[in-house]
Parts: sequence; structure tokens; C-alpha cells
Amino acid sequence: MKVDNFRFQLGNREYVPIIIGGMGVNISTTELALAAEKLGGVGHISDAEVCYVCDQLFSTSYTTRKRRKYSYNVDNPDKSDLHFDLEEVAEAQKRYVEHTVSQKSGNGAIFLNCMEKLTMRSSSETLKARLSAAMDAGIDGLTLAAGLNLRTLDLIKDHPRFHDVKLGIIISSQRALSIFLKRAIKLERLPDYIIVEGPLAGGHLGFGPDDWHAYDLRTIVSDVIAYLKKEELDIPVIPAGGIFTGSDAAAYLDSGAAAVQVATRFTIARESGLPDNVKQHYLNAEQEDIVINTVSPTGYPMRMLKQSPTLRYGIKPNCEGLGYLLDNNGSCSYIEAYYEALEQKEAGKPLRVSGKTCLCTGMAKYDCWTCGDTTYRLKETTHRLDDGSWLLPTAEDIFLDYQFSTGEEIRKPSLPG
Ligand SMILES: Cc1cc2nc3c(=O)[nH]c(=O)nc-3n(C[C@H](O)[C@H](O)[C@H](O)COP(=O)(O)O)c2cc1C
Repeated sequence: MKVDNFRFQLGNREYVPIIIGGMGVNISTTELALAAEKLGGVGHISDAEVCYVCDQLFSTSYTTRKRRKYSYNVDNPDKSDLHFDLEEVAEAQKRYVEHTVSQKSGNGAIFLNCMEKLTMRSSSETLKARLSAAMDAGIDGLTLAAGLNLRTLDLIKDHPRFHDVKLGIIISSQRALSIFLKRAIKLERLPDYIIVEGPLAGGHLGFGPDDWHAYDLRTIVSDVIAYLKKEELDIPVIPAGGIFTGSDAAAYLDSGAAAVQVATRFTIARESGLPDNVKQHYLNAEQEDIVINTVSPTGYPMRMLKQSPTLRYGIKPNCEGLGYLLDNNGSCSYIEAYYEALEQKEAGKPLRVSGKTCLCTGMAKYDCWTCGDTTYRLKETTHRLDDGSWLLPTAEDIFLDYQFSTGEEIRKPSLPG
């Protein structure tokens, strides 16, 4: 039994049932998403810190302009003056999505991972601008991630593509799903797909640092499938988190999943946005290096390598330029932690902020090494070279391994030469 025996039916389209999950900030790059699309699967880009990402990719200057505009405020812990220019947010989003979808060359699809917890100082207005611009730019699907909110569908219900774009949600329990569906039924707009993310996933988690062991993806997926059946709702269910081999994926497909969402194996792909030296850190990681902590100002637990440079940050908040995690009052728990640490700093000692990290800067600079639970197994997927480094596979190597391998095997990439 292999993944290729199955197809993912979504509306009137059929895909290879492999979805590369969104990984912000620009870890799931345009190139990574396009690799999945070319092979008939689904690739995600992520709109986390989209203005900053555009600046890196297209030499725009959204971040510098914003920083300049609010330069008078940099020493002020009160960030309530700061606002994103909604037209610029929409422009950046359009530019990024168009850049990606205009390069499609296969039969797959490109979806956008949209973390609602990036509240950007005005959560509803900025979210509406992001989602609308992505639809204007021709995105195939929108995956509503961390921070999923009941009001989100209302924000885009008047958009001409509201019924044509594929809409998906990420949930970690059947309970969260049933609450969301109540609102969706009222608006007569059910999600087109449901991603069920279990406790082994990377990024932000719907499980706590102390209780994640108590849950398993297989049980949550069965609960969700049973619930949908009881409600007579026919919506594709897509498990995510810890699906490491093609055989793991095929087993889910055989028991009723429509597709699988995977990410960790692709973090080390040549097309992933992580710098090559960080990919080597992922490959060298041992199980004890992978931790779940609560340093993210979003309030969600997050899995990361304990060697992440961001965990030793004592940097000044950079909300004037970035500020993606400012809430509707202009607050972020890192700002509080930073100014508390400043007050307690002993003369001559470096500033250390404990408890919270500046995620905006950490993710932008690839200093926050978020990862899935199976990261320590990445060594099994490639070759160690003579100089001690690891060969980086292409996204195609990994995708085809998921699609065609059997019997728990992992097909390693070919050695050069
Ligand atoms: C490095 C990394 C970054 C991630 N970032 C995001 C993100 O920005 N938004 C999101 O919804 N999920 C994020 N995820 C979760 C993935 O999209 C995916 O659902 C999950 O990791 C799949 O499990 P796996 O990594 O075990 O294959 C991230 C995962 C990884 C590994």
C-alpha cells in the first residue's frame, strides 16, 4: 500500500494527496510550494510577516518605511501609536501571492497558510486585507491557522471569491471543529477541508508543554471523522503532525483521511527558506534537543530546538518596523518581559529576557528554530557526506518518497557524482 494508490478529491479537482504545510516566516518558500504543485500535490506559502518577506524577495521597503514613520516611538514601551498601512499590507500580499501562483506549472494547487494570531495591531482589518488580497491575486486555497476565529468568515463573506476559493481550517480537537462549524453553517459556507493537527507538529501547537503526550493524532482524526459522519457532513479530513514515512501517510489514507499534511521532512529541502547551516542543525538534532515552551508571545505553546538563538535574545522590541504580534491595544508580552528585564539588569551583565522571546525578529532572522517532533529522525532521510555535513535532498526527492515508498522505507536522495 502506498500513497500513490489514493487521490485527494477537492471539489471538482483531484490531487496527489500530499500537502506541504505552511511554515512561516518564509520557510515554506514559493519554490517549495511550487515543487509540490508541479508534482500534482498542494504546496502552501505562509503570509506571516508578509511585508518583511516582500522586502527580502523584491527589495521593497515596507519595513524601513514603517520604521522611519514611527522612529519617534522606538524608546517608548507603549506601542499603541503603531499601525500597519492596510493598503501596503494588501499590496505586499498581492505581490507575494501573484509571484507564486504565476509560476504554477503542474496540476497541483497553491494554498496560503494564514495565522490569525498575527494580530498586526488591528486584527480584523489586517486579516481582512490579507485574505482579500490573496483571493484577488488568485490563490487556490486559504488555510486558516493558529488563532482560528469564528468571525473570520464574516470578514470575507462579501468577497466575489468567497464561494469559489477553497477554504480550510486547522483544528486540534473535535470540540474546536464543532464550535467553528456552528458559525459556518449559519453563513452557509462550510470549510472545504479540515486539517487535524496533532501534538507532534511543528510551529505553534494546540497542546500544552505538559499534556501533549496525552493526545495522539490517530484518535483525534477518528473522532473528527466520526463526528462529521454523525452530522452528515462530507468534508475531507487531513491529518498532520508526525507523519514521517510514505507508509505512515498511506495508513491514514487507508483509514479514511483525504490527504496528509507534512512539513518537518521538507524543512531540510534545498527549496526550504531556512539557511543551509540551520538545516544542518535540524539534521544533527537529537530527541532531547526538541522542546515545547511558552516563549511565543502569541500565547500558544511552540515546539523548537533548544539551541535556537532566539532563546538567548535580549533584543529591544522592533515593533516600529515589524510589530506583527501587537494586539489591538498595541501590546505584546515580549515588550513587557523586555522592560521588566531592563529594570532588573545588573550593571555589566548582558540583558537576558526570560519567559518570552521576540518572535517577530526571531522568525524573520531564522533564529527561532521551530520544528516538528520527528526532527531528530531527519538523519534517516539522507546521507552524511565526507566532510561531516548532510546532503540536502530536493523537495521532489522528499515528495516522491512520500508518494511511492512502501514498507516503512525511506528512499534517500541520490549521491552527487
Ligand atoms: C518549521 C515549521 C514551521 C511551521 N510553521 C507553521 C506556520 O507558520 N503556520 C502553521 O499553521 N503551521 C506551521 N507549521 C505546522 C505545519 O504546517 C504542519 O501542519 C505540521 O508541522 C505537520 O507535521 P510534521 O511537521 O510532523 O510533518 C510549521 C511546521 C514546521 C516544521
